[in-house]
Amino acid sequence: MESAESTESARLLLRRFSPADAPALAAYRSDPEVSRYQSWESPVPLAEAERLAAMFAAGDPRGPGWFQYAVERRDVPGLIGDVGVCRSEDGRQAELGFTFAPEFQGRGYATEAVARTVEFLLAEEQLHRVSAGCDARNVRSAKLLERVGFRREGHLVQSMWIKGEWTDDVLFGLLASEYGGTRDGR
Ligand SMILES: CC(C)(COP(=O)(O)OP(=O)(O)OC[C@H]1O[C@@H](n2cnc3c(N)ncnc32)[C@H](O)[C@@H]1OP(=O)(O)O)[C@@H](O)C(=O)NCCC(=O)NCCS
Repeated sequence: MESAESTESARLLLRRFSPADAPALAAYRSDPEVSRYQSWESPVPLAEAERLAAMFAAGDPRGPGWFQYAVERRDVPGLIGDVGVCRSEDGRQAELGFTFAPEFQGRGYATEAVARTVEFLLAEEQLHRVSAGCDARNVRSAKLLERVGFRREGHLVQSMWIKGEWTDDVLFGLLASEYGGTRDGR
């Protein structure tokens, strides 16, 4: 990776958030379809998105805890989604999360961004394992993770309380030892 805080894939730039990303962040996080299986409630007011963008912008890309990458197209500036990386305390594992604006879904951008993030973490940063979890009804998220090479590892029944109901959580994992390398055409 060019640095831990920014990198490119074939069509995308993953970079540190900036305060200027707040309006686009508020717009897609406010979409009820986007927030449906996520922990936050929509709509997300601009002031809340400004607080989030400032917090993301101040994050440490190599420290423990979450660092959120802003994703934009290389040829057209502007936030289209985000990929979150949560490194463990010892730095040897990371959990991923991802959210894309509806108008930029269905074009392979999210797959490309997650694949590049996995390549960075396993091949370049030499982490041992990456993982992700999603609501069992979030079929598109599960499909994406399997496309990138994640293994479905567990199904936790009614383990999360989200938006007024108990939901099942499906767990995915991928080890460095079984990782096949670049999947985004770089
Ligand atoms: C999860 C999420 C990112 C998946 O989005 P997505 O659009 O399915 O994923 P991609 O952007 O990678 O697009 C893949 C689709 O684009 C198609 N596609 C079109 N052009 C493509 C291209 N050039 N390259 C690759 N795929 C392409 C693929 O065939 C695939 O379609 P399919 O699902 O019908 O097979 C999106 O649904 C989302 O943001 N949801 C809300 C937030 C959320 O729930 N996040 C996950 C929390 S665990």
